[in-house]
Amino acid sequence: MDAEALRERVIGQYSDYVNPGLARLMGFAGFGVETRAEGCHIYDQDGRKYLDCLGGYGVFALGHRHPKVIEVVKKQLDTMPLSGKTFFNQAQGALAERLASLAPGDLTYTFFSNSGAEAVEAALKFAKMATRRPKIVATEGGYHGKTLGALSVTGREKYRKPFEPLMPGASFVPFGDPVEAVTAIDGQTACMIVEVVQGEGGVHVAPPGYLKAVRKHCDAVGALLVIDEVQTGMGRTGDLFATTREEVNADILILAKALGGGVMPIGATMGTHEVWDKVFGDNPLIHTSTFGGNPLACAAGLATLDVIESEGLTDKARTIGGFIMDNLRSLVSPGSLVKEVRGRGLLIGVEFAIDDVGELVIAQLVKRGMIAAYTLNNPRVIRIEPPLVISKEQAVWACETFYEAVAETEALVSALT
Ligand SMILES: Cc1ncc(COP(=O)(O)O)c(C=O)c1O
Repeated sequence: MDAEALRERVIGQYSDYVNPGLARLMGFAGFGVETRAEGCHIYDQDGRKYLDCLGGYGVFALGHRHPKVIEVVKKQLDTMPLSGKTFFNQAQGALAERLASLAPGDLTYTFFSNSGAEAVEAALKFAKMATRRPKIVATEGGYHGKTLGALSVTGREKYRKPFEPLMPGASFVPFGDPVEAVTAIDGQTACMIVEVVQGEGGVHVAPPGYLKAVRKHCDAVGALLVIDEVQTGMGRTGDLFATTREEVNADILILAKALGGGVMPIGATMGTHEVWDKVFGDNPLIHTSTFGGNPLACAAGLATLDVIESEGLTDKARTIGGFIMDNLRSLVSPGSLVKEVRGRGLLIGVEFAIDDVGELVIAQLVKRGMIAAYTLNNPRVIRIEPPLVISKEQAVWACETFYEAVAETEALVSALT
């Protein structure tokens, strides 16, 4: 089958059998069929190469098909891909031990699942059970996934409204405002769930001292602090865990995406001794997952942590991220389409001055061989979230391509207005 026929067939299958609206949206942005991927590049049906500056929304911290992760997963595949779940599973024990040694604070235990939303579900249940309280405080613009519990604490009306009534007891406060958070968290609050950098909310970094103030108040009223590092975790922001920089300790920490090394899906909910005791103390089966903690995913997680360390990826995220942000900030000027460039490490957001322009810029980027996407809860912001293995040369090319895409979009917008 030739390349164009393949593209038409797959788009047709999406239209007829997956999701017609999604097929239109992806078609508009100019996306074709992904046929292979390697390092920082994705290839389409024509063999055309794209620099992946979205990184699977944070999944591909190690790039695509990192050889060390592939090797370990292949070996695991040949010995024991999934465990019977009745015997002990070495890989799960080893990854839990490794995470406990690396995570900030007293996060001793890990419950493994298969995605970010599942890991959030576990966190919400654990917080409720550990405190025996009904209320959960979350942040406007925050994103925690689209399963019913996770959606209940996701701060965007558009996604919540059609499914109401959702989990009772959730309320929202503006992100970054400690006074509002302190007012909302009371003696009936099980936890506050919050990101260090709101990813889907439009790449907003927690202001200095925000999480410390929240932590202090949680301690005062006996509420738990749940930090969602599904997107910021595993080196993305220049630290293995973004929480470390905030100098706070979470009672529950949530990981997913990059922990699987871009090869396996995985979710992880970490918690303290105190939390685990109250959740699993009377019934170790109170929360379970058939596939969670499977040997393939855990082996991938262990290899991922090795690669992040041996390739110095946290430092790389900091230096290359800083370079890209400094560069793109030259686009911000009075009258420019670009209003602000912000972020931490290689989680970068470019905010546009007007609505709907992001999609045009994305189409221009794709035309030039670069992939980026807007943030789910804030379509005015394009996120630049490449693999942490991105080279300086690739980063320079990405910045130049971004300038060109913005310039062409500006020309287009001014011709239309
Ligand atoms: C901070 C955060 N939490 C949770 C999720 C949900 O993860 P998943 O899509 O794997 O369910 C996401 C996904 O983007 C996320 O960014």
